[in-house]
Amino acid sequence: MNIVMAASEAFPFCKTGGLADVVGALSQQLGMRKGNKVILFLPHYRNITRVSSLKVVPGVYLIPIGDRIEQVTLSYINWGSVIVFFIGNRKYFDRPELYRTKNGEYPDNDERFILFCRAVLEGCKFVGFRPDIIHCHDWQTGLIPAYLKTVYKLDAFYTRTRSLFTIHNIAYQGHYPYSTYEKAGFHPVDYTPEKFEYYGGMSFLKSGLVFADNINTVSPTYAKEVQNDPSKGFGLEGVLRHRSNHFCGIVNGIDTEIWDPETDPILPVGYDCFDFPRGKTACKMLLLQECGLEQNPDKPVVGIVSRLDYQKGLDTVVNVIERYKGRVLFTVLGAGDPRLEKAYQALARNNPTSVAYRGKLDEELAHKIYAGADLFLMPSRFEPCGLSQMIAMKYGTLPMVTQVGGLADTVTGFPASNATGFFINTLSENGIVSTLETALQVYADKPAWTKLVKNAMMADNSWDKSAQEYIDLYKRTVN
Ligand code: ADP
Ligand code: GLC
Repeated sequence: MNIVMAASEAFPFCKTGGLADVVGALSQQLGMRKGNKVILFLPHYRNITRVSSLKVVPGVYLIPIGDRIEQVTLSYINWGSVIVFFIGNRKYFDRPELYRTKNGEYPDNDERFILFCRAVLEGCKFVGFRPDIIHCHDWQTGLIPAYLKTVYKLDAFYTRTRSLFTIHNIAYQGHYPYSTYEKAGFHPVDYTPEKFEYYGGMSFLKSGLVFADNINTVSPTYAKEVQNDPSKGFGLEGVLRHRSNHFCGIVNGIDTEIWDPETDPILPVGYDCFDFPRGKTACKMLLLQECGLEQNPDKPVVGIVSRLDYQKGLDTVVNVIERYKGRVLFTVLGAGDPRLEKAYQALARNNPTSVAYRGKLDEELAHKIYAGADLFLMPSRFEPCGLSQMIAMKYGTLPMVTQVGGLADTVTGFPASNATGFFINTLSENGIVSTLETALQVYADKPAWTKLVKNAMMADNSWDKSAQEYIDLYKRTVN
């Protein structure tokens, strides 16, 4: 099959969250399987990493935005089994960040991703790659399925092409005024509530959901939640219920080449599920040392690696840390909401030997926390899938998670005999305390703890099964 992946981020080139991990890993998985040709389109941001051998496709092509014309260039690299094309336009993508500055979203994100969506479709023609399926990820790519069914409806190049739209997070929708609709170049006749209209403006995400041939999200439980629970569907429950015959959940995997405690080059000592205590203790001591925390291997360490965002529930953790700081060591890596960043900074400043905080993106420290902590805290209000809890399990660090979305689908809660972690039943300070108490009791019982760690490390969250599910879904979509 000829597969086009279109996304606004992919690891290792550009990343703000799990979307990047999934797009990168899934593209490789698909490309490795026989009979598939995979090309991936990304915006050519200023800070694209690991692209020293970038080649340029000669020439430029043109994309209309409103009554203006923008020039687009394509550069590419061969990356394993995938060709990655970077869509270049200085004005829109040569900027310090992907989507926002400290002062908020870039005000022209609508134009940036109108350009990106059309440039993917024109780009396929420019390089002569006729896709069977275009797999679009999140709101930034939501106009691609819409263009295919409207502006490109009669385009012979695309008669056989179908689209799949994957929701990684329904909370981000790309909601803009009517003027954006005009800039995108759709016909006024399609501006109806059944199609593009959304609260007097338009929504990139809704456009994707309405026009894609199939839709999925990144876990079966989240697929149910976004249709039935208004606090999780963010206004799009009705649209999704309307398309429920074309909507399913496929749980994410993790890239086990990057996330493997046995071979991880960042760790001082490797370890596996058959022999972990020595390796994990070495990782714990290194983590404590690097974070300036009390060098006590017997004290439990709770790790957090997360965006600091309402979704992640980490506002409820601040007081829990205050209460437990003598008994438990905390290491928190996460950037985002400035008020929360300040709260965590203050906790670390006031308790330097029991709380460590780093407020930036730091891949290396993330690996050290996944390996060196005993428990991983992820009290999300909602979680489409979540990768961090799966990575933590792989490294033998037991997740404490709310039972929502992909967390419910990937963690088995204590006291089940095959438990791989702990569920937080109520998202509140007391709810987290109650789970932490249970976890600390198990921690004190070494044989019971060892069994849970082993269960967690043996859980299979690789991409094998899910990549196959995507291929099956592509086949159903093109037939
Ligand atoms: P989300 O995509 O909602 O942020 P996921 O759990 O799916 O949540 O994925 C988060 C990814 O981002 C993981 O790979 C995690 O390790 C990484 N991550 C989050 N914050 C940081 C940080 N400050 N430094 C390094 N990696 C981070
Ligand atoms: C989103 C979600 C997260 C998911 C990731 C990759 O960022 O918040 O739960 O794991 O996308 O699908």
